Amino acid sequence: MNAPFRLAALALCATAFGPLAQAQSTGPIKVGLMLPATGTFAALGDMIEKGFKLYVQEQGGKLGGREIQYFKVDDESDPSKATDNVNKLIKRDNVDVLIGTVHSGVALAMAKAAKDSNTLLIVPNAGADAITGAMCGPNIVRSSFSNWQPGYSTGVVAAQKGYKRAMTITWNYAAGAETVKGFTEAFEKGGGKVLKDLNLPFPGVEFQALLTEIAAQKPDVVFAFFAGGGAVKFVKDYDAAGLKNSIPLFGSGFLTDGTLEAQGASAQGLQTTLHYADNLDTPRNNAFRTSFALTYKANADVYSVQGYDAAQILGAGLAAVKGDLGKRDALTAAMRKVTVDSPRGKFTISPAGNPVQDMFLREAKGKNNEYRSVAVKALADPARGCKL
Ligand code: BEZ
Repeated sequence: MNAPFRLAALALCATAFGPLAQAQSTGPIKVGLMLPATGTFAALGDMIEKGFKLYVQEQGGKLGGREIQYFKVDDESDPSKATDNVNKLIKRDNVDVLIGTVHSGVALAMAKAAKDSNTLLIVPNAGADAITGAMCGPNIVRSSFSNWQPGYSTGVVAAQKGYKRAMTITWNYAAGAETVKGFTEAFEKGGGKVLKDLNLPFPGVEFQALLTEIAAQKPDVVFAFFAGGGAVKFVKDYDAAGLKNSIPLFGSGFLTDGTLEAQGASAQGLQTTLHYADNLDTPRNNAFRTSFALTYKANADVYSVQGYDAAQILGAGLAAVKGDLGKRDALTAAMRKVTVDSPRGKFTISPAGNPVQDMFLREAKGKNNEYRSVAVKALADPARGCKL
């Protein structure tokens, strides 16, 4: 290319790409929401999105001084489509940060893609232990929990109540297996014994044969992990099988969170543990629930809290660098150092990127999962395999 032509070409590039380059450092932050909009976890994805957007709206639509622009993909809670789906956000939409998702198997694929492309990822639900364990990375933070945490805290409570023989029941995928593992660890440490683990493929709801097996074995207690639409069906079937009044049903709180209206009388009185209870009577939780109810004409739940807190964590990172995404190390460090003023209560983030948080024993009453006690204070995930 001769010199005058090269100059002309450079001038053309500057005109074509100059404003774009500028927009990337001063324009909106591109947030990729990868959540389920269909399937058994659709309502969970919707509540996470509502919570995230509520916090942004409360900040005047900006985080770290920059507008937020949303890009969305329905991940269908389908791990086989996860890599393609997350690449729509990373490669097609060129997002600055990924927010997702609900399903552990899908989130594992997101975490791999986020690591490979060094994209920021905030996980607002999925508990897959490896995300803040062996796969941990400075660009990955979770606003929710590890699967181990609610499993472990329910095991502590079940052992303290004096139950000795338990059966577990769940879907056969990472979240089910890891939650059960956490339960078993604490329950057996407390003197109990898990007789048998029952499971069925995700998102199946053919519970009958498994409930018959529970009725035959008559354990002292049953521990279950289900969520969303599957949890509604399971809790109703457990009751309809006549088990509710004979064998106490315990669960991680997802069993009854966001599902109480649909579960009706079958869920009343069920005890679960989780890092949130609807009626926590604190100014922070009351303000959040009022704001959520006014904005969406619906009651908040744990998923909306996790979405809200994902936005808070992103906001803390962006505030520390005044919206400058180029200051990546300072941004990710601030996202780890933050004490999140959450509706669940203040929590910190472990070096591996997972919340260190109180786990509550709750009881389903009316439309609420009511606080009963602190099951385990400031529970930190063991972060097995994380080298950070
Ligand atoms: C999970 O797949 O990690 C999950 C899904 C729903 C509720 C809780 C955990």
